[in-house]
Amino acid sequence: MAGYTDLPFRRACRRYGLYYGTTALIDAGALVHGNPDSVAILHRGEEEEWLQVQLLGSIPTDIRTSTRILRDGPWHFDALNFNMGCPVRKVIKRLAGAALMNQPVRALECLKEMRDNWPGVLTVKMRILKEDNPEPTIKLAQRLEAIGVQGLAIHGRLARMLYSGPVHTQIIRAVRESVKIPVIANGGIFRLEDAQRLSKETGCEQVMVARGAIGVPWIFRDIATGTTIPVSREELLDVMTEHVDQMVQEYGEKGAMILSRKIISSYLGGRGFPHELRAQVVNIATWQDFIALRSQLTACPVQVTDCHG
Ligand SMILES: Cc1cc2nc3c(=O)[nH]c(=O)nc-3n(C[C@H](O)[C@H](O)[C@H](O)COP(=O)(O)O)c2cc1C
Repeated sequence: MAGYTDLPFRRACRRYGLYYGTTALIDAGALVHGNPDSVAILHRGEEEEWLQVQLLGSIPTDIRTSTRILRDGPWHFDALNFNMGCPVRKVIKRLAGAALMNQPVRALECLKEMRDNWPGVLTVKMRILKEDNPEPTIKLAQRLEAIGVQGLAIHGRLARMLYSGPVHTQIIRAVRESVKIPVIANGGIFRLEDAQRLSKETGCEQVMVARGAIGVPWIFRDIATGTTIPVSREELLDVMTEHVDQMVQEYGEKGAMILSRKIISSYLGGRGFPHELRAQVVNIATWQDFIALRSQLTACPVQVTDCHG
């Protein structure tokens, strides 16, 4: 997820068993025209066993060059994923992301560049094209399979629904039954039961967690074990502190403390911490500010009851 799934975020998730991690999207143009070495999105932890990188774009020549940069650069990625699902207006306007689902010729041209220039695993992240008829989504998926795409992650919502509304599990199921490559179901997993239902309704062995991991990295442990394991306040504050500490190492204290405010809020939201304490998050500017808040969170008399939602 753009703005979230950086190395510190993934480390928090990996602590709870995440294996198949993906970077946030990286723009092909930014890779071609910028300084790729400085792109924090591409930072991989030495201990990360499997990591996929996601590319966004719609200009075949940029896709070709950026794929080669990712192939030849100092990083190592286990798979390359093409974003055909982003519904953000500025992305759609340049015919990238979800817009490519309606421009299959262009999408296939981009994917051919990736296929020709990437020796490893190639996958696609997409959405559904229609909610009441599986055919258009099936047809697209089959074309992607035919060009050499080796895995599909499908977010079961229309692009115009952005991130809300029902997840159309029957469309994902129909696609899964129409292709030979693995289909990974995505959409609406916020707790263990959501993952189990999505897997059951789609028939997909693998599901993809997105927003449900924000402030809840232990969701991966719940899914892996099939049990909702309680998380104590101490554990919650430890994971949060480790996450923020990793952000300081990644971005430096000044940048990290600003970026970490939304992360800290995500760990604290909806768990019974007093409003006055949570309101202090917006003022955090230094590591010391954070530690002072943490002490108050440790001392305040609340019971953390629900860390899963
Ligand atoms: C803030 C935010 C950023 C996202 N960034 C990306 C991204 O970079 N690449 C991608 O494939 N999907 C991205 N997504 C979409 C998610 O991967 C996922 O498909 C979507 O949130 C539906 O799953 P969920 O209902 O479980 O959250 C993003 C979603 C959100 C909310």
